[in-house]
Amino acid sequence: MIQTEAIEKAKEHFAKLLEEQLSRVDQIKAGEDWADYSKLRPIIIGVVGGDGIGPYITREAVRVLSYVLAAEIAEGKVELRDIAGLDIESRVKVMKALPEDVLAALKECHVILKGPLTTPKKGDKWPNLESANVSMRRELDLFANVRPVKVPEKGIDWIFYRENTEGEYVLGSKGINVTDDLAVDFKVITTPGAERIVRLAFEYARKNDIKKVSAVTKANVIKATDGKFLETARRVAREYPDIQFDDWFVDIMAAKLVDEKRRKDFKVIVLPNLYGDILTDEAAEFQGGVGTAGSANIGKRYAMFEAIHGSAPRMVEEGRAAYADPASMMRASVMLLRHIGFVKQAAKLENALDVCGQLERKVVLTGRADGATGAEFADYVMQTLGAKL
Ligand code: IPM
Ligand code: MG
Repeated sequence: MIQTEAIEKAKEHFAKLLEEQLSRVDQIKAGEDWADYSKLRPIIIGVVGGDGIGPYITREAVRVLSYVLAAEIAEGKVELRDIAGLDIESRVKVMKALPEDVLAALKECHVILKGPLTTPKKGDKWPNLESANVSMRRELDLFANVRPVKVPEKGIDWIFYRENTEGEYVLGSKGINVTDDLAVDFKVITTPGAERIVRLAFEYARKNDIKKVSAVTKANVIKATDGKFLETARRVAREYPDIQFDDWFVDIMAAKLVDEKRRKDFKVIVLPNLYGDILTDEAAEFQGGVGTAGSANIGKRYAMFEAIHGSAPRMVEEGRAAYADPASMMRASVMLLRHIGFVKQAAKLENALDVCGQLERKVVLTGRADGATGAEFADYVMQTLGAKL
């Protein structure tokens, strides 16, 4: 009887989730227009320092960004605005993944540069709140997580289009412990949700004259959701006959990214949320580690730019925060600049980061006191920019 009750409770919970998801589908279908940054004055860039090493690396990225945008800031075309209240202590104080006043402040910005945020998990010293990242991506409908990985000398030039608002994540904090012995989570893929990410990936390929898009799923096993993602990708691909389309299962894709002969063939890779999470960490490792990779979270109205890595609490505990590599946040800034239409400034900063991080490497970070500090690296980037401006 207790079991019947548990099942009834779970059914009720599930029914509510389905209602929420169906109304999300309606919202996606209703659509909205893409923001036109050329019309916004000033463009407001919200800055969230984050937790752990976040404030350290964000500070250095902001110094470089302010340097690159000095003229635009002086002319009132761009405003950099600090957004407080997203650090883990503040979130725990109000017991919200994304406190309402912070969400309101974020919505007054046009784009956001965000340092890594602590994501609590079961057994931590923190209450098990939903990830603020996941919550922000959902609340601002940042459906495309775009993560480029480049290693020119190895012929690697990939760009991942990770779906960012569905999959395993959207109900990741809404699973059910049906009984003490049975836990169930849910994975969600919607037709319009899959379609908009696949379309964005193909549009990127078309605009940049890239002739190949690959989809990654596990549709042989996860049949309903991954099946829908794959089917949608195939349907959209037919609208782009000049672009070659293929699909891979996530396990063999993880292997092929290591295969030096095959991996050069991949260009644009589109995939559901969790597979994107995992493969982009793997891919970033070839480029010099997650500390070197930036990530764009794009929606029609808002966009957020961040590092792909976490807040590295151990570095802070061991007194090494000042040695954390701010390159990831600077790469995120490049993506931000490009997104809001400052293409020249983006190219200059990207070039300076290539010089400082890969080609010249006069200032090298090791994450420890035997290497440079993040501030020294930022100075080096600005000197390099100065020489080129
Ligand atoms: C990322 C991170 C996040 C994610 C975490 C911090 C919730 O790993 O941006 O890839 O899983 O999406
Ligand atoms: Mg990740």
